[in-house]
Amino acid sequence: DRVGLVDQFGRRARDLRVSVTDRCNLRCTYCMPAEGLPWMPRSEMLTDEELLRVIGLFVRDGVTQVRLTGGEPLLRRSLVDLVQGIASLRPRPRIAMTTNGVGLERVAGALAAAGLDRVNVSLDTIDADTFTTLTRRDRLGDVEAGLRAAAEAGLTPVKVNAVAMRGVNDDAVADVLAWCLERGYELRFIEQMPLDAQHAWDRVDMVTAEEIRDRLSQRWTLTPLPATDRGSAPAERFLVDGGPATVGIIASVTAPFCAACDRTRLTADGQVRNCLFSQTETDLRTPLREGATDDELLGLLRGEMWRKRAGHGIGEPGFTQPERPMSSIGG
Ligand code: GTP
Ligand code: 5AD
Ligand code: SF4
Repeated sequence: DRVGLVDQFGRRARDLRVSVTDRCNLRCTYCMPAEGLPWMPRSEMLTDEELLRVIGLFVRDGVTQVRLTGGEPLLRRSLVDLVQGIASLRPRPRIAMTTNGVGLERVAGALAAAGLDRVNVSLDTIDADTFTTLTRRDRLGDVEAGLRAAAEAGLTPVKVNAVAMRGVNDDAVADVLAWCLERGYELRFIEQMPLDAQHAWDRVDMVTAEEIRDRLSQRWTLTPLPATDRGSAPAERFLVDGGPATVGIIASVTAPFCAACDRTRLTADGQVRNCLFSQTETDLRTPLREGATDDELLGLLRGEMWRKRAGHGIGEPGFTQPERPMSSIGG
């Protein structure tokens, strides 16, 4: 049955991740070089109107959650209006955002009022010096303020994403968890994936989920939550000392969740990607600007989804990193 956003393995896309800009105000060493990347020309980026039309088609075809990502999504000046536009779609999708938190303090209230439901904030370390070295910007205070503002605005549960890195933050995972527990943020550690613009990722250096769990277990009792509570969410979750607080581990490399994947992606320049690691994309921008009908565009979305591969294949022979870097796919 090829109706709707379904692939050959029976997976259905329910979660659309929209990268609203490829620009970023941090320069995390594992993501991009100090000088940044050649950013997309603005003329190639979809306008709000174009984005809303495409997101509306995805929603019509079964997407129930829209996640705004980047680059850094807060750098898109029209973000509040865009959220409002998405919240006006019917059936109204849930709206989430993944952000680095810089500047969130100023707009959390407006975003919540416009219809944003929740945020995930990327924060790999709570040590100010490590933060500055890692992100090449002295902005830890802004991120902390952004997190507080998000919680106050009701953008909850506020989740924190921390990519675990050897020699950077691997010996401090317990500090980050203690910090998040104190503040009521739901922390998830992430295994690093081969998506850096510099192509420096090495499986041997990767901090594994098992290692993270071992380290945390020295300080807390972790009780795995049943897999049935997980749905297609990437994080394996644990109760911390019996709960109610939890910690998650996203083990994309050692325990891929591809078989339950319900995601699809739209880049800021209007390309649909069926997987983080897909080698091909479907161009919507050209047909959109040449006057394609809704049905023609829907056909393109469905075609892209249908071609989705069974899994990412990291570590298998023939694996190659996608050409597009993480910062323009949006994670
Ligand atoms: P929740 O719905 O709040 O669980 O969000 P999420 O974890 O799906 O999204 P988020 O943007 O916070 O991503 C957290 C981590 O999961 C990042 O490192 C992403 O790159 C990774 N991730 C997100 N989607 C996928 C995916 O489809 N495949 C893989 N392998 N990793 C993903
Ligand atoms: N592997 C895993 N996660 C990554 N992120 C960025 N690069 C990688 C990578 N190579 C994370 C960011 C953010 C989310 C969107 O993806 O830190 O939390
Ligand atoms: Fe889905 Fe691809 Fe991510 Fe696997 S790697 S979970 S198939 S997007």
